[in-house]
Amino acid sequence: MDEGAGTGRGIVDLDLDRYLTDGAAELRRSAAGAWCTHAIDATGAPLPIVLSHADVRDVMRDRRLSPRSFTADMVASGLSERAARQLTPLFRRHGEEHRAFRGLLAAAFTPRSIERIRPVAATIAERLTGEIAARGGQCELVADLCAPMPPEVFAALFGLPASDRDRLADWGNAVIAAFSTPLTAEEITMVEAACAEMREWSLGLISERRAEPADDLVTRLTEAEVGGERLSDDDIVDVITGFVFAGSETTRRQLTALVVLFAEHPAEWDRLAADHSLIPGAVEEVMRLRPIVPGMTREVVEPFEHRELALKPGGRLVASFLTANLDDATYDEPDRFWIERPNADTHVTFGWGPHFCVGAPLARLELQEAVRALVTRFGPPVLPDGPVGPGDLGIVAPAAVSVSFPLR
Ligand code: HEM
Repeated sequence: MDEGAGTGRGIVDLDLDRYLTDGAAELRRSAAGAWCTHAIDATGAPLPIVLSHADVRDVMRDRRLSPRSFTADMVASGLSERAARQLTPLFRRHGEEHRAFRGLLAAAFTPRSIERIRPVAATIAERLTGEIAARGGQCELVADLCAPMPPEVFAALFGLPASDRDRLADWGNAVIAAFSTPLTAEEITMVEAACAEMREWSLGLISERRAEPADDLVTRLTEAEVGGERLSDDDIVDVITGFVFAGSETTRRQLTALVVLFAEHPAEWDRLAADHSLIPGAVEEVMRLRPIVPGMTREVVEPFEHRELALKPGGRLVASFLTANLDDATYDEPDRFWIERPNADTHVTFGWGPHFCVGAPLARLELQEAVRALVTRFGPPVLPDGPVGPGDLGIVAPAAVSVSFPLR
């Protein structure tokens, strides 16, 4: 092992066999003695994985790196350029162009403007949990709560009819596959179809808002200018599509992971029920311990050096959120689920730096309101089919999970 600069923690080689058997365990083992590990990608090219919390934050905020490789990887995998661009309106933009474009969206997603949607999210959560209560507390968690809630909140935010909810959820669910390349032929067909449908639907929405402006994000996008020029319809379609995906599928998975984690910790659930002021901190702690995004790939845009690492343009690295969130240099007893952990909100599950999740205030609000509705109505969740084990890289995001909630 090379000795690292300041901390004495250097870079180790990843044990590929162990990684393929249990990726999360091998990354944790590497992170115990190093800030970075040398891996290789599917083509055999070197792929450093940055492991420690401090170094993950450093590389995520470094403007010599970009997440734009997502777009190129989708195209290389057989997806049309149009669909790939549609799915990555912000990831594919870099530098000044990204800053200007993002500024447009960030204005609609300030914590204050999002806070206005809290009563709507609360009402939706109460209705969905009420329907579960009417069935005696038995549910298929994903179909009955986690999948419908985010698109419905999102529809309210965008001024869309709630009847669009199921379509938005289905599209989000279909296109997430595009972010795990290489893609199978069936995945390509599914993603292309969803992108084409979203394109048509978004164009309809844009022309409606042009004809009859409203106080919503789509209208603002039709009126917005970047660098003195109006956005093209294609640009607006991409932004809407990007949000439909980013705003539904992620929150759906994080909410599923949250309930599964609380099923393992019923006493913590009861503490939340007794004191709702603990809810925001508990949501952060869930996101730290069970991140549904295990890490992000960054492409090197300008020559990049960091500690012992030196990468040329075109090279790549991965920032591992999984190990950063469990770094014992940052978190005491990192494996413990501690809902009052004072620094839980320093997790990197929403990323960090210039591409930090635009929707974080909305996701936080939705998760908090879902938990509030659940703990108010129900005792701790029980998984009648037994524990849900971690999937790939420790990510708990089953497509379906039976849950039984004792009625209060
Ligand atoms: C629990 C739910 C969510 C998680 C875990 C999550 C996670 C992430 C992560 C890891 C990134 C990349 C950050 C980076 O590269 O530094 C990201 C970016 C993004 N997220 Fe989220 N997200 C969630 C919910 C949402 C929601 C609700 C929306 C919108 C309604 C949203 C919109 C976006 C957008 C537009 C970007 C791209 C930002 C950019 O490239 O500048 N996300 N998110």
